[in-house]
Amino acid sequence: MSDGSFRLDNQTAIVTGACGRLGPVWAEALVDAGARVAALELAGAPVSAAYKALADRAGDRMSRVDCDVTDRRSIESALEEVIGRLGEPSVLVNNAGIDQPPDAGANRTRIEDLSIEQFRRMVEVNLLGTFQVTQVVGGRMAARGEGSIVNIGSLYASVSPDQRLYDHLPGHLPFLKSPAYGASKAALVNMTKYFATLWGSRGVRVNALSPGGVLGGQDERFLAKYAARVPLGRMAQPDDLKGPLLFLASRASAYVTGHELRVDGGFTAW
Ligand SMILES: NC(=O)c1ccc[n+]([C@@H]2O[C@H](COP(=O)([O-])OP(=O)(O)OC[C@H]3O[C@@H](n4cnc5c(N)ncnc54)[C@H](O)[C@@H]3O)[C@@H](O)[C@H]2O)c1
Repeated sequence: MSDGSFRLDNQTAIVTGACGRLGPVWAEALVDAGARVAALELAGAPVSAAYKALADRAGDRMSRVDCDVTDRRSIESALEEVIGRLGEPSVLVNNAGIDQPPDAGANRTRIEDLSIEQFRRMVEVNLLGTFQVTQVVGGRMAARGEGSIVNIGSLYASVSPDQRLYDHLPGHLPFLKSPAYGASKAALVNMTKYFATLWGSRGVRVNALSPGGVLGGQDERFLAKYAARVPLGRMAQPDDLKGPLLFLASRASAYVTGHELRVDGGFTAW
């Protein structure tokens, strides 16, 4: 928009889990809208080519900071580091999350035997991790009276995985997408509403952005089945996610809070 309401000039944004597949997509949108971006990521986690290219282009407007979202002290020291290097954050993208890849053949189990540890770990990172980052970073925003928090959900926050998308994969047992993933994301969407209502009067907006499947390395049969399942007939391209993120992060959405914006090509409408 020509009035600049989607711009984030002179603002500092934090993205958690920033060096994976979607982290660089959010970071690029924020940098290109004028923000300085703190890329919070596990110490030693590998850096994708997309992240490296963006970091080279962004120069001192982007900075990587070690952070484990499941460790409260790590989050607190990361926030101090961000403030020192880039300034007080006014945008937080809670993106760090774990899932199990569909090719994890060696780890396949029947649902009756699914490890409770796997379930616990997904909740630990996807839900409790986001909660703790929100406590620390969001609490600081609420104290200062401004901020926009975007929690990255998933289409599986709303619907159960369609296991038929995976039933062509070879293996001694069918691949079963874990119930822990959707359960953790559904809880995240509910928690979004909690903080939206709690901090609305303190100038902090809290919304969820729930992507559908994003194109990247899937096999042909999966792609065909997925496309047939989506009203818009394809998976998301990374660029499809940028406008929705900027909308929620910026004053373009000044009167929007507690909302789940589904960016899934209509998957959950069907
Ligand atoms: N890729 C998709 O198709 C898709 C679709 C819907 C939702 N999502 C969600 O988007 C987010 C990003 O997904 P992605 O595809 O980029 O995943 P990814 O695995 O490529 O990246 C996730 C990043 O989070 C980091 N991370 C994991 N545990 C962490 C911890 N304890 N502390 C800090 N960082 C940690 C990882 O090191 C990794 O760099 C996730 O929340 C995911 O659930 C992804």
